[in-house]
Amino acid sequence: MGNDYNPFSLEGKNILVTGASSGIGEAVAIKCALMGAGVAVTGRNVERLKAVYDQLEDAPFRAQITADLTVAEDLERLVAALPPLDGAVLCAGNSTTLPLQFGSREKFDDMFNVNFFAPVELLRLMYKKKILNKGASVVLIASIGGTHSFMPGNGVYGASKASLNAVMKYAAREFASRRVRVNSICPGMVDTPLIHRGTITEEQLVEDAKRYPLGRYGRPEDVAYGAIYLLSDASSWLTGHDLVIDGGFSI
Ligand SMILES: NC(=O)c1ccc[n+]([C@@H]2O[C@H](COP(=O)([O-])OP(=O)(O)OC[C@H]3O[C@@H](n4cnc5c(N)ncnc54)[C@H](OP(=O)(O)O)[C@@H]3O)[C@@H](O)[C@H]2O)c1
Repeated sequence: MGNDYNPFSLEGKNILVTGASSGIGEAVAIKCALMGAGVAVTGRNVERLKAVYDQLEDAPFRAQITADLTVAEDLERLVAALPPLDGAVLCAGNSTTLPLQFGSREKFDDMFNVNFFAPVELLRLMYKKKILNKGASVVLIASIGGTHSFMPGNGVYGASKASLNAVMKYAAREFASRRVRVNSICPGMVDTPLIHRGTITEEQLVEDAKRYPLGRYGRPEDVAYGAIYLLSDASSWLTGHDLVIDGGFSI
């Protein structure tokens, strides 16, 4: 057996990564390129997206498309610009820390627009317009917030991620006829700009990390490596699964 044996290789695959301008999506895009994939990246912030795009220089194919996925025209423009895909990792999302008594319909709408409706519409369009090749793999980034009260005040956020996981399972079943696989990753707290926006203090974050059996929050690459498994042919008999990557938090 040669040294180039690698069932997790992404060579010959073109992969779309949303939310690629920061955090988990950035790590996914860069690691996918290192595994041999062609990568299309999308995000809203032009400078940060360009900085990630620049790091994909060895990828056999690369593209950057700026888009706000909550805006219908942007979503359509993105879909129209995509090459045939063998994989997609839908990372774009946001969070909010909000006790339920302040969770107005408007707050739920804001959260669902970015965390639920945007990825679901993108998934639907990619399948309907046959952008996803036979055998393609889609990975949705959900959260343990969809199944656990992992932080106080995460009901609105958690509901959006639980809903995403529900759709993931139906898409997995329906898209299987074209051999398109759909799975999700449910990370625990991951150290990205998302968790440093001031709603939780740095002291609270240090305390919270102690609740993780493996002794730390996740790193973006902890999630990226899970995505690589789900994108690769190593997982070709896996669909409709939510992969928990949380340092043991939810045991
Ligand atoms: N960090 C965690 O602890 C954690 C835990 C579980 C799940 N997650 C999930 O993981 C995903 C990535 O989070 P992260 O931690 O990497 O956060 P992040 O560093 O804040 O990155 C979020 C990404 O989503 C993009 N985005 C946000 N709103 C968008 C919109 N309307 N249209 C297009 N792109 C948009 C951002 O683009 P711009 O920056 O260009 O605006 C950015 O690239 C999210 O779905 C999040 O809910 C995170």
